[in-house]
Amino acid sequence: MSTIKKIAVLTSGGDAPGMNAAIRAVVRTAIYNNVEVYGVQRGYDGLVSGSIVEMNAKSVANIIQRGGTILKTVRSSEFKTKEGRVKAYENIQKLGIDGLIVIGGDGTFTGASVFGKEFDFPIIGLPGTIDNDLSGTDYTIGYDTAINTVMDAVDKIRDTAESHDRVFVVEVMGRDSGLIALRSGISIGAEAVLIPEIEVDYDAIMKRLDQTRKNKSSRIIMVAEGDKDGGLVVAEKIKAKFPHYDVRVSILGHIQRGGKPSCMDRVLASRLGVSAVEGLIEGRRGEMVGVRGGDVAYSPFEKSIKHIDKINTHLTKIVDILSQ
Ligand code: F6P
Repeated sequence: MSTIKKIAVLTSGGDAPGMNAAIRAVVRTAIYNNVEVYGVQRGYDGLVSGSIVEMNAKSVANIIQRGGTILKTVRSSEFKTKEGRVKAYENIQKLGIDGLIVIGGDGTFTGASVFGKEFDFPIIGLPGTIDNDLSGTDYTIGYDTAINTVMDAVDKIRDTAESHDRVFVVEVMGRDSGLIALRSGISIGAEAVLIPEIEVDYDAIMKRLDQTRKNKSSRIIMVAEGDKDGGLVVAEKIKAKFPHYDVRVSILGHIQRGGKPSCMDRVLASRLGVSAVEGLIEGRRGEMVGVRGGDVAYSPFEKSIKHIDKINTHLTKIVDILSQ
């Protein structure tokens, strides 16, 4: 018999499309298994302040298609302190909550790992970040929607680039990771993709721009936010080398985090939400649930937040081959 009778769910860190679908799955799976379920508002801050409300099947109706998170989210500084975590534990104890599900990225899991060990408390994590920069899962909730948003935006930019014979440098999100830039870059036929994981070869990029001029009237260079130069500097370098080029920069920003989740993200969030609750009931703790090779897989928080390189060199090669 499981000891888990009452659980809480929260979202933390940057919002990601599909977080609501994940909350819905957690709440309804808990109810299905006769487990009471609470929602914590504003991430770990809500645990510290006691903003915790009971949820039912109706509280998560009509949210599967909505971006953002109905529970709201923050990057909590209070939870980083021992005093904050003690308050959080006291609030959990008061309500008799015996398990926690956290949806977020590496900061969320770092907090979960510390708290879980400090108070010997069962926590399961769901990967929710547009950056896809977590080990232990092939894809994170929100990534598919974000790369489709980038693709749609750059398709529009392409119309202007083509009409004016311009080079556009497009900067996309990914503070520490080039996974958004790489996949969306392939999808829009980028000339080059600049990502923090790989040293940039400016000579090769300039050579390619020079060579491809005869084949194309518009060119797009995709730059990840975490690139050491960033979009503005990359554009300056191109302009310095080719003063006759008409170069523009577009920084896509937070539109990449919003919008209704794609089908892939809704299904991923639903699968992981169900597995997170089932995992807790089975006695799992201190793990993130993800998908690897199409199957649900659990990995310890420490392993999932270790920034291993998820860059697939086949994809980087594809950019080079196809950009002629
Ligand atoms: O972690 C996701 C992310 O979108 C990063 O790619 C980006 O650097 C960051 O969040 C931006 O965060 P904020 O909304 O706090 O500016």
